Amino acid sequence: ETSEQKQLVDLHEQAVKLYHHILVNTKMGRPALDYLRKRGVNDDTIETYQLGYAPQTRLLKPFFDQRQIDYQLLRKSGLFSEDQEGHLRDRFIDRVMYPIRNASGQPVAFSGRLVTKNVDLPKYLNSPETELFNKRKILFNLDLARPNIRSKQPALLFEGFMDVISAYQSGIKNGIASMGTSLTEQQIYDIQRITREVIICYDGDAPGQKAIRRAIDAFNQTNHQLNLKVVSIPDGMDPDEFIRHRGADQFKALLEHAQSPIEFELTFLKNQANLKSEAGQAAYISDALKLISSVPSEISRNLYLNHLAEEFEIDKQVLKKQLVPLVRKVV
Ligand code: GTP
Ligand code: MN
Ligand code: MN
Ligand code: MN
Ligand code: MN
Repeated sequence: ETSEQKQLVDLHEQAVKLYHHILVNTKMGRPALDYLRKRGVNDDTIETYQLGYAPQTRLLKPFFDQRQIDYQLLRKSGLFSEDQEGHLRDRFIDRVMYPIRNASGQPVAFSGRLVTKNVDLPKYLNSPETELFNKRKILFNLDLARPNIRSKQPALLFEGFMDVISAYQSGIKNGIASMGTSLTEQQIYDIQRITREVIICYDGDAPGQKAIRRAIDAFNQTNHQLNLKVVSIPDGMDPDEFIRHRGADQFKALLEHAQSPIEFELTFLKNQANLKSEAGQAAYISDALKLISSVPSEISRNLYLNHLAEEFEIDKQVLKKQLVPLVRKVV
């Protein structure tokens, strides 16, 4: 940690405090506070995650100017946008502020969410890449989740950091998330350093299901030693919505029934297939066989084949002959 990084963290700590103060103690923060309460975020959570509000009026720039913070340092912080003349202005305007902490628990960036829907603006605005913040490396909540994961809970991988926060509030404290990007090798490596058990809990909508497949691919492209599982959240809900509507116990029940990646993919393919036509059935069976071929364990392969044979009332030996010759990954 260089002295510049230390100064940048210090700026972020001050910004966290200021935004938090605006949210909890001022009239300006009221609509944002109402928004959070309406979506079920309680005071404890607001404290734990030091949630805040960036008001409609400029706040951070005058605050740091008063303290005579160096211009170059402010530029590098990512907290400001810069016009052509090099003038800095607050990047985050009228947004609920979620501090992003690194693995050591230091605030290194923010994500700001719109309070009221506005089709012209992105729902979430993140800090840009800085010396402190690389979104391909960061795992949201890793600092708080790590001790729980180490004490033998699986790592729960969520799509959105609001899902992580919502789960945490309901007592499920082993959740992490990437910052809206697909999972990187670095992140997979960091997860693997603390656990062998990962459950992917992405959103139950169509984009979430696609993202699950991308995440499985990302895991498969590494030489991971993880026991990977997947939950499907029903009715297109995301974990936050599911927990709010059905409660933490129901969510834990979903975790108990998590599928292997192959099972997930088979279900996914089946949902896409047109099983009413024979051609559709044949196409599904062919895809399923390709998938089953990729399973390294012969016992598992046989179990999947049994299911498939029963399901379509086809002789298992016939299916077995169709298995694509195994291409094993060299580990
Ligand atoms: P809520 O609507 O607040 O409940 O958000 P969510 O947590 O359900 O997020 P969503 O499922 O829409 O997206 C998942 C993740 O993608 C978020 O946590 C963000 O990290 C990211 N994301 C979503 N929308 C945007 C956006 O407009 N800009 C950026 N940069 N990231 C986004
Ligand atoms: Mn407080
Ligand atoms: Mn989504
Ligand atoms: Mn959501
Ligand atoms: Mn979501």
